[in-house]
Amino acid sequence: MPCATQKMLINFLLFFSTFFNDPVNCFVPGKIIDYVISESSTNAGQDIGRISETITHEQILERGLGKSITKFFYDQTDGPNRINLTKITNHYQDIRNIYADYYGKTVCTPKVSDIITVLLGPNVALVDLDPLTKDLPYAHFDAEKFNESNTRVMNFTNFIYFYLDLKDYEKALELSGQIMHTIHDFYSHSNWVEMGNVDRINRAIGTQDLYSMPIADEKDAETCLSNCELIETPCSTFTQSVIDFLKLLELTSALFECPIRYYKCKSNLAEFDKLVSGYYTGQKLSDGTPVPKPSNLLKCSHGGLIDVDSILLEPTGGINKDSGYYLFSPRADLHLVAAHLAINHTEYFFDQIRQKIGDQEFDKFLDLTYSSIELSRIPDNVTFLKMPNLR
Ligand SMILES: *[C@@H]1O[C@H](CO)[C@@H](O)[C@H](O)[C@H]1NC(C)=O
Ligand SMILES: *[C@@H]1O[C@H](CO)[C@@H](O)[C@H](O)[C@H]1NC(C)=O
Ligand SMILES: *[C@@H]1O[C@H](CO)[C@@H](O)[C@H](O)[C@H]1NC(C)=O
Ligand SMILES: *[C@@H]1O[C@H](CO)[C@@H](O)[C@H](O)[C@H]1NC(C)=O
Ligand SMILES: *[C@@H]1O[C@H](CO)[C@@H](O)[C@H](O)[C@H]1NC(C)=O
Repeated sequence: MPCATQKMLINFLLFFSTFFNDPVNCFVPGKIIDYVISESSTNAGQDIGRISETITHEQILERGLGKSITKFFYDQTDGPNRINLTKITNHYQDIRNIYADYYGKTVCTPKVSDIITVLLGPNVALVDLDPLTKDLPYAHFDAEKFNESNTRVMNFTNFIYFYLDLKDYEKALELSGQIMHTIHDFYSHSNWVEMGNVDRINRAIGTQDLYSMPIADEKDAETCLSNCELIETPCSTFTQSVIDFLKLLELTSALFECPIRYYKCKSNLAEFDKLVSGYYTGQKLSDGTPVPKPSNLLKCSHGGLIDVDSILLEPTGGINKDSGYYLFSPRADLHLVAAHLAINHTEYFFDQIRQKIGDQEFDKFLDLTYSSIELSRIPDNVTFLKMPNLR
């Protein structure tokens, strides 16, 4: 008997239906576009500069949390005999495999997977959709607002512990999802990777230590160079369908003209000793104060089709590593590096919560273990059915 697939499809559709209710400003629906590319017979991927797969915020969250959960089970009764830690980044990426190894039976939807689908996933995505946060630089480590973004992480972390103390796990999970988004963005929106930190997460995030890191400000007149390669691609049926899709999302800040123009950047940073991030068209503070890319300084742009300033205002191009397509990410070549750092930081984030509240509370927070009664209700002969991963 295979695990039911219906539920995943329904969740998938529910998740995407949220896009059509709200105008979106900065979300790249990477999996949908990858799916369209895979279904398309032309060299569609090439047209939009596809260089790698795209790992979304939800996947980053699930993989990082999965690593933390793997270590949790390893540390439980008989863990070392059941869990093989060397499989932490590969086999256990599918959380069901942790359960299969630890309990010796197939659990189709572990309780924690429901938590990921219903609470953590939607909240990590929400930050790009919610009118209160989608254009707020503090929620995305944009516009060189490192201090303010860090203050946001510290405030959220305090509230997470506050709600954990009250045993309001749902609220703690919502806030965890939301703040993970901001932490992930540090790696894809800043120059951390270009500074040489290809396999080192920034443990100063969420602590006072970040305030003493060197950060570029208005005195640093040139953080990026205008040396990116301009790519022009004709509007094929495929690119037209991508554009139509983005128009549906009401991405008004995008420059939809044929031929499509986007930048491919390689060594466009001018600052390696200080933290730098990109400016993104249309950003504003909570009180409505705009945060434009300065026109009198040579500051980095976020970049990509959806960031008009990055195409029109020097230095052109940009530094974001949000996706594996140059169409959206001028540093698509660094996307996987940034995504893996974000996965490891997610792991670190949940490890710290576990360390602070202890295994028993961590178990309740994420509903991890099964009692023998719960286990006896799970049939013994279930097998996995491989599903296309669309999220
Ligand atoms: C653990 O997994 C690794 C890699 O999959 C494998 O080579 C090794 O034999 C496994 N160890 C045990 C004790 O099963
Ligand atoms: C701190 O976080 C809480 C909970 O999300 C939020 O209500 C509050 O506005 C935040 N305060 C600041 C100064 O960001
Ligand atoms: C992430 O952590 C793993 C160990 O779990 C390590 O092998 C890997 O190099 C780290 N990746 C990055 C990008 O830091
Ligand atoms: C960040 O905060 C620290 C400590 O409050 C301060 O010294 C520094 O100037 C701030 N940096 C920026 C760019 O605002
Ligand atoms: C597998 O499970 C199904 C449904 O629970 C049951 O009808 C069937 O007899 C089981 N098959 C085996 C081989 O145990």
